[in-house]
Amino acid sequence: MEDREPLFSHTPVLLNECIDGLDVRDGLTYVDCTTGGGGHSFEIARRLGNTGRLICLDRDADALRAARERLSPFLDKITFVHVNFSEISSVLDEYRIENLGGVLMDLGCSAFQQTEASRGFSYMKDAPLDMRMNREDTLTARDVVNEYPPERLLKIIDLYGEERFASAIVTAIVRRRETKPIETTAELSDIICSAIPKKIRAVGHHPAKKTFQAIRIEVNRELDAISPAIRGAADKLTPGGKIVIISFQSGEDKIVKNVFSEHLPPRLPRLRLRTETRSGDRNQKTDPAERKRT
Ligand SMILES: C[S@@+](CC[C@H](N)C(=O)[O-])C[C@H]1O[C@@H](n2cnc3c(N)ncnc32)[C@H](O)[C@@H]1O
Repeated sequence: MEDREPLFSHTPVLLNECIDGLDVRDGLTYVDCTTGGGGHSFEIARRLGNTGRLICLDRDADALRAARERLSPFLDKITFVHVNFSEISSVLDEYRIENLGGVLMDLGCSAFQQTEASRGFSYMKDAPLDMRMNREDTLTARDVVNEYPPERLLKIIDLYGEERFASAIVTAIVRRRETKPIETTAELSDIICSAIPKKIRAVGHHPAKKTFQAIRIEVNRELDAISPAIRGAADKLTPGGKIVIISFQSGEDKIVKNVFSEHLPPRLPRLRLRTETRSGDRNQKTDPAERKRT
């Protein structure tokens, strides 16, 4: 039989660093806020001992299904919850967790979401514009691209994508949508490419990458969830508990640092920052050791 990569494949980044940082101990409960394909969860679950417990959250039901399969050796220790991690406080209350040892957040989207054409995240594969992590949400990338006023689109692409050609891209999008709605990832990608000077297009990352990232962040309101999640987790951590966060995008990074440094009560964990600052493709296979860290 042909040896194929599983449908939901995601190589966990900074795996050893995260596991070391969490310092998993028996008898405590851990929460993986961004379970994805379960790569980090698997290593946490392996270290739980006889009485430890893991709560796996994700807003993507497909991710939880895949994780349940991958984590099948440990199902008696794991609870899966389909939820936005901004709700972590309610989840911990609902499951009466009083021994929270650590919380992991691996922010952003998974390789599966980026590469599975039907999810409409990818500029590499043509599909209807979607980009919802939770398919029960109503706002899609199609709505953002076709219905947002130009000033709002500009702000998003500028802020979340840090795209220096944001203004030209918005002009091209608006011009096109005046004649017909933009329906697919390929159409959007072509429009973006047409707005970027040829010389720039030829080098570096894909010309549509930053704009797609920006629209995805908007569709999923990704930045809104981070602060309530950190505060909710910090409130319930047991003494010595840990919060480990991987961020790949400067907007995420700022929020994480800001919440830790300014808003957490003094009794809370000392901050050891080791955040990913390269706003690159988190799913490309590079050696984490080569990446810039702060
Ligand atoms: C980078 S992937 C995590 C990969 C995972 N660590 C692994 O080893 O496979 C991020 C995951 O977090 C989920 N996610 C992102 N934002 C979320 C949120 N606010 N609430 C819940 N899940 C979220 C995404 O659906 C995605 O599955």
